[in-house]
Amino acid sequence: MPRHFLNTQDWSVDGLQQMLASASAFKANALGDQLKGRSIALLFFNPSMRTRTSFELGAFQLGAHAVVLQPGKDAWPIEFELGTCMDGDTEEHIIEVAKVLSSYVDIIAVRAFPKFQDWQSDRQDKVLNAFARYATVPVINMETITHPCQEMAHILALQEHFKTRDLRGKKYVLTWTYHPKALNTAVANSALTIATRMGMDVTLLCPNAEYLLDERYMGWAEQNAADSGGGFKVSHDIAASYSGADVVYAKSWGALPYFGRWQDEQPMRDENKHFIVDEAKMALTNNGVFSHCLPLRRNIKATDAVMDSPNCIAIAEAENRLHVQKAIMDTLINRPEIS
Ligand code: CP
Repeated sequence: MPRHFLNTQDWSVDGLQQMLASASAFKANALGDQLKGRSIALLFFNPSMRTRTSFELGAFQLGAHAVVLQPGKDAWPIEFELGTCMDGDTEEHIIEVAKVLSSYVDIIAVRAFPKFQDWQSDRQDKVLNAFARYATVPVINMETITHPCQEMAHILALQEHFKTRDLRGKKYVLTWTYHPKALNTAVANSALTIATRMGMDVTLLCPNAEYLLDERYMGWAEQNAADSGGGFKVSHDIAASYSGADVVYAKSWGALPYFGRWQDEQPMRDENKHFIVDEAKMALTNNGVFSHCLPLRRNIKATDAVMDSPNCIAIAEAENRLHVQKAIMDTLINRPEIS
């Protein structure tokens, strides 16, 4: 079975740190032949700007060719149910798709967001796991219900900012922010996972218990904090959470108990526009650094002043997508000693 990059939780901290060090090396020397003659299929079931651009360029800069496919748009719609009679809109089954692509390319990367109707179904991450099950080459998660490539770019940006690989003990706040639409929990799940894994003192700040994340990721955060010597707690107190923080990471997400009934969640979400990251809140921090995965609606999630502040590292984090993804592709193809 090939090694996949589906979640950082599947990899050791040492392995993640080795990939981050490799990403720094790729940042210093952009061009190489580590993937010469190789190819990667990038399957996008959802839109992207950063992920598509950075994967395509990263593959090119290391000598590989990237093929972008959008199933249901420029490629056949794919069936993921087993044993079904395919008399609907899908034209071919994941079993054939994964096997055929594996015969052409060296890596398959997949972006497949939740359908936002039934969390119990979406939390199974069926599309990504089906590719991982039937592909005979490594599979990379380009964001499904987690976003591990973003995690790596985020951590690299923090390591660069603090000038150390060791982030243990940093006071880290993941704050929910308002957005007019109910968004994916993927980046929030990922932020909790990696921040606790790296031994930071993590606070999940959200308006109320309805905005807690899925028990899988809450459980990972608790376990990671125990294993790493970091901390993990939930707070609904904005001032207390920001006070003394070294890192503020912002994300909006829909409340899971309302999954698929977003019109019922909207009034509660609308009451919490004050969770916006602004200068007054950042002034409570320990000269804290701010970041976000992007895309970000200015003056909805964070103010212009916060985004334009020298303490905002969102652009550095976005740039790091290019470097960490090179490290991930190189590791999957060339470095079996990293696990
Ligand atoms: N952060 C991120 O994944 O950006 P895109 O959705 O533009 O790829």
